[in-house]
Amino acid sequence: MALLDSQQEDAYAHHLSQVNKKNQVRATEDIFNEQGVLLVKKGMPISEQLADQVIKHKLLRPIEHSVNIEKIIDAGRLFKAFSFLFTRYPDCEAVHQNMTLEMLLRDLCGEYGRFSLLQQKMTVLSMQRPHEFEKGLFCAWFSMALARKMDLSMQQINDAFMAGLIHDTGMLHISSEILDKREALTPTEWRTIQSHPLIGDLFLKQIPGLSPIVARATLEHHERRDGAGYPAGKFSENLCTEGQIVAIADSICAIRMLRLSGTEGNLANLLPIIQFNERSYDPGSYKALFSLIRTSGLEPGRILADTHLGAEIRILILAHRQLNRCFLPLDKVIQLLPESSDLRRVRSAIDQIHSCWFAVASSGLLADSVLQWLEQCLVNTEEEDYVAVEEVKVMLKELHWQLLQVRKSLAILKDDEGFKAIEMQQALKSALKLQEGLDEVFK
Ligand SMILES: [Fe+2]
Repeated sequence: MALLDSQQEDAYAHHLSQVNKKNQVRATEDIFNEQGVLLVKKGMPISEQLADQVIKHKLLRPIEHSVNIEKIIDAGRLFKAFSFLFTRYPDCEAVHQNMTLEMLLRDLCGEYGRFSLLQQKMTVLSMQRPHEFEKGLFCAWFSMALARKMDLSMQQINDAFMAGLIHDTGMLHISSEILDKREALTPTEWRTIQSHPLIGDLFLKQIPGLSPIVARATLEHHERRDGAGYPAGKFSENLCTEGQIVAIADSICAIRMLRLSGTEGNLANLLPIIQFNERSYDPGSYKALFSLIRTSGLEPGRILADTHLGAEIRILILAHRQLNRCFLPLDKVIQLLPESSDLRRVRSAIDQIHSCWFAVASSGLLADSVLQWLEQCLVNTEEEDYVAVEEVKVMLKELHWQLLQVRKSLAILKDDEGFKAIEMQQALKSALKLQEGLDEVFK
């Protein structure tokens, strides 16, 4: 795809050749490069050697339009994949049953079955990047449930579901070496990864009959209401509802699958995080999200083991103190920033700091009474304290994460020529320094 950095090869042909080892992938037409040279004859299987050859060329049209996979994830297989997802996440099934979503899910899978290109991408994703495939299922299901809870039209529910399913398939065009790299990424590698919504958008726009909102929602799934997202850094007024639903589903999916994996935690454990981030959502989706979990009948499960509680509380006490210190220099920074700036990065930094303030003020998380209660828990822990300590832990971690986003924005401002005044530089420096101390606590 043309959106990749000129140094990067499109990895999709390579994925097809790997799929071909177990599930035959054949060219459905002659494949030419941009100069009109024939690279693959119609009917040939996409072998590794062939893929190596194709990858070196810019093709006349994207390879996905010229191949067929023998056994695809069609509507029926997709529906079955959701059943398997529910066996892994019984809390999702509880919500599913509570909201009587089965018929709707079946219909949406049927709608997906109308688009052979979507089926091809999901098939490749399931075989080559199964974790992302599972994330796609989760996001599609959650987007559907949230859109239904918000009382959106059938078309909007359909678009949110479809975008949730397909939103990360742009990753299939990016080298696995970059996606799975364990060391720190270079700025070029970051840019490459951040191109995946653009790749998805370009692909989806070329599918006849598919609602254009599916492409737009895919493009916007990493945008944030405070302008801190990518690829365009749009603010709330320029974002479509379906894209923001997929963004919410994506973040809920990440927390549910990563932070709660291997524990008894479930969607109900996410309520404190959702409340804590109230300002990140538009009021409609916040209300629906809260109600979706609240009315499911789920109770939070245990995350912390008995043996870890004392050590965890000590960490939380340190984190509480350090987080309180972080807000003093932030007050100074906000006083010095121009309140009504047209600069995107300034508006974004101000919005992010206000979100942190709002979360702290509305939750009372950093009050002295919370610290005193934690100290009391160290001496004498009652059974009911476990859930409360876990709630404080998820909120402190969430606040830490929010401050990491603030730090990224402040680091950019610190290097900005417009903010070189000594007072501003000192305020930015101390804000950044205190947050480094916080990383030590949470390490
Ligand atoms: Fe993504």
